[in-house]
Amino acid sequence: MFDYTDKHVIITGGAAGIGFGIAKCFHDAGAKISIGDFRPDALDAALAQLSPERSYGYTVDVRDEKQIDTFFHSAEQEFGPVDIVVANAGVIPSVSVVNMTVEDWDRVMDTNARGTFLTCRAGARSMLANSNQGKIITIASIAADAARVDASHYCASKAAIVQFTKSLALEMAKHQINVNIIKPGYVEVESDVSPLSEEYKEVTRKGIPLGRPGQPEDIGNMALFLASDYAEHITGESFVVAGGASAGRANLPPAQP
Ligand SMILES: NC(=O)c1ccc[n+]([C@@H]2O[C@H](COP(=O)([O-])OP(=O)(O)OC[C@H]3O[C@@H](n4cnc5c(N)ncnc54)[C@H](O)[C@@H]3O)[C@@H](O)[C@H]2O)c1
Repeated sequence: MFDYTDKHVIITGGAAGIGFGIAKCFHDAGAKISIGDFRPDALDAALAQLSPERSYGYTVDVRDEKQIDTFFHSAEQEFGPVDIVVANAGVIPSVSVVNMTVEDWDRVMDTNARGTFLTCRAGARSMLANSNQGKIITIASIAADAARVDASHYCASKAAIVQFTKSLALEMAKHQINVNIIKPGYVEVESDVSPLSEEYKEVTRKGIPLGRPGQPEDIGNMALFLASDYAEHITGESFVVAGGASAGRANLPPAQP
C-alpha cells in the first residue's frame, strides 16, 4: 500500500517493541532503516530480522547530545540524507511522587523529553541542510492527556513531547517539513527495559473497546500514513492509536440497577 523505496528512515529505540515495529513497517515498504538504541545486543537481534543492505544499527543513548549527532552523521554516511525521523525511544517506570527520587525524575525526562528534542533537532537540522522535504514523528502516549498513578514523571514527559512537537511543527511548516505526534494506548511488547506487571496489563486490556491491546505494527501503520503523501496537509497534530481506549470508559457495568 505504501512505497518507501529509497527513503531513509531514522528511528530511535528501534531495537525492540514499538520502535522495532515501526522500523519493520518502513523496511517492509522498501525503506532504508537506521536504528539507534542503547542496547547493542538487542540492536544486533533486531538487525538480524532486516535486510542487511537496507538496515543499519548504531549504539546511542538518546540523552547524549554528541551521541545523537554522531549517530545521525554516521547513518547519513551509510544511506544518505534522512527523509523520515521517528523519535521513539522512551522509558515507562512506575513510582509515586512521594517515593520518587530526583534521579527517577531525571531519567524519565532526560530519555523521553530531552531525547525527543535532541533526535528531532538532529533530524530537522539535517533536513534543512539538505533542502529536502521531510517528515518527523514523535511518540507520546495517551498518558499525555490521561494521567495515571505512579507515572507523574512519565505523564509529564509525554505532555512535554506533545507541546514540543507542536512548536517544532510551526517552525518547520515554512520548509514543508511535516511534524506530527502518535499517542499509543497500551501496546503489547515484552520490554526488558520497562517491564509492566501482569495486573496492570490485565486491567488495561479490559479498558480497550476494540477488545485487544495494540501491537507494534498498529503504531507502525500510523507512522507509514503520517510519513506519506496522503498526510501532506497534516502537521502539528496528535493521533491516538489505542483501540478506542481514550474515547471513554469501556469497562463499566450498566448504569441502571
Ligand atoms: N508499550 C506501550 O504500551 C506504550 C504506550 C504508549 C507509549 N509508548 C511509548 O512508545 C515508545 C516505545 O516504548 P516500548 O513500549 O516499545 O518500550 P520498549 O522498552 O519495548 O522499547 C524501548 C526501546 O528504547 C530503547 N531505549 C530506552 N532508553 C534509551 C536511551 N536512553 N537511548 C537509546 N535507546 C533507549 C530501549 O533499549 C528499547 O529498545 C516509548 O516512547 C513509550 O513511552 C509505549
